[in-house]
Amino acid sequence: MKTNELKQAVEKRRTFAIISHPDAGKTTITEQLLLFGGVVRQAGTVKAKKSGNFAKSDWMEIEKKRGISVTSSVMQFDYAGKRVNILDTPGHEDFSEDTYRTLMAVDSAVMVIDSAKGIEPQTKKLFQICKMRGIPIFTFINKLDRDGREPLELTAELEEVLGIDAYAMNWPIGMGKGLKGIYDIYNDRIELYRSEADGQKFLELDENGEIKGDDPLKEDSIYQQVLEEVELVKAAGNEFDEEKIANGQLTPVFFGSALTNFGVKTFLDAYLQFAPSPTAHKTQAGGEIKPADPTFSGFIFKIQANMNPNHRDRIAFVRICSGEFDRGMDVFLNRTGKKIRLSNSTQFMADTRETVETAVAGDIIGLYDTGNFQIGDTIYTGKKAIEFEKLPQFTPELFARVTAKNVMKQKSFHKGIQQLVQEGAVQLYQSYSTGDYILGAVGQLQFEVFQFRMANEYNSEVVMTPMGNKIARWIDPEQLDEKMSSSRNLLVKDRQGAPLFLFENEFSERWFKDKYPDVKLTAKL
Ligand code: G4P
Repeated sequence: MKTNELKQAVEKRRTFAIISHPDAGKTTITEQLLLFGGVVRQAGTVKAKKSGNFAKSDWMEIEKKRGISVTSSVMQFDYAGKRVNILDTPGHEDFSEDTYRTLMAVDSAVMVIDSAKGIEPQTKKLFQICKMRGIPIFTFINKLDRDGREPLELTAELEEVLGIDAYAMNWPIGMGKGLKGIYDIYNDRIELYRSEADGQKFLELDENGEIKGDDPLKEDSIYQQVLEEVELVKAAGNEFDEEKIANGQLTPVFFGSALTNFGVKTFLDAYLQFAPSPTAHKTQAGGEIKPADPTFSGFIFKIQANMNPNHRDRIAFVRICSGEFDRGMDVFLNRTGKKIRLSNSTQFMADTRETVETAVAGDIIGLYDTGNFQIGDTIYTGKKAIEFEKLPQFTPELFARVTAKNVMKQKSFHKGIQQLVQEGAVQLYQSYSTGDYILGAVGQLQFEVFQFRMANEYNSEVVMTPMGNKIARWIDPEQLDEKMSSSRNLLVKDRQGAPLFLFENEFSERWFKDKYPDVKLTAKL
């Protein structure tokens, strides 16, 4: 590809993830987006996968048993001259560190909120990671066809709970059974809900904000109230500011109903207009790699094991950061300096896996892996070695003690643990006093996958003793006194040997802080 072509191809890319709390409507909206992209012809395809009826599924056994997908997949489609990559962020029981790491590979995020529930815990956690990265966040407040909370209250909550400024792109006219449509502030029009009967979907507004021509909403009291609210939002709300959107300080807010496909296209069109194309990635050495740089580079943000149960293969997911990928190309793996031929690559669609021949910066590819790659690895071509910034570690919240069932099989137990921990499947800690192994995870599924893979790949049956939720806080080794540890704040060390406490709950953390006011405790993220 010529430099110019590469630049154009990169500028077309929009790579994002949808963040939400379970049941807010992420699957439903993803499906609508895929419909617009012509990838699925029928609603229900993504849903079927979630409920376990996914015909083409060849996910690992544990996934089949539970009817969920262990790790995120990637969906790609073309729409309005753009190439869209949606990275799935698993929620529900399959919430895990992979969900967080996926957010390291996107250029923007769409936050879906249930209009009746507002901001829920998982949304908040995922939001904080996007905020830390400073990427643009677009908000879709869903389920307008049901009675929900007042729009003013919902937008205020974004600012109060998440600390991000909000800009209303549109405003609901009624809700639930009384839903009439949305006042599209950004496009100066009214989008009518369920307008099939009269065939009219949009009503244009004149420069005074009044409906041009016939006004079916003239007598509508809710509409009159909306006009007042819109007036208020325009006068007292935040200014539309593209720069603030670009660095994640201001979120454009859209209202709609994913289930009835209302407001979704309006959202998608505006989103694609303002969402960024791939941007430069920082290197460990303090430099930057630009996406249109002709040398290929990328990093591995996720490794999925055993997608095909007949083969013990793994798939390493690569976010391409610069240049062009061609199947069969040779790359260097920064960590080892080894040259590797990338001949076996795959791309993910909603329901199929296809061999990918070419891809450019912004795209995600899957590489079949026989154990060469680790999460966080950089691969590149060209003479100059590249190493991207390290992926952050996420503080686990769930813990369990782990031992080998068969004490005679310590060797395979240790080997398995070391490899799975290195792969990023779980975090490993050791008790200071007893030396016991303790695993940490963000979601319960990580433990189940760990247990399954230990048995299947390392022939090591493990016994897991759940310890429940803990608050992990690191302590400066200089300030550490082993006597500070108690049953309510267990002292452990991480893989690098750094000491941390696992607090029973917020109360025990507060008690500790009161007792040792000079001791500094830190969370990783
Ligand atoms: P998730 O991926 O975020 O977990 O949510 P998902 O899309 O699966 O949606 C969760 C539930 O909310 C589903 O209902 C879905 O149909 C419903 N839903 C999503 N968007 C809307 C909306 O705009 N309006 C209304 N009224 N409902 C919406 P369910 O009963 O759990 O599943 P199903 O069996 O009906 O598919």
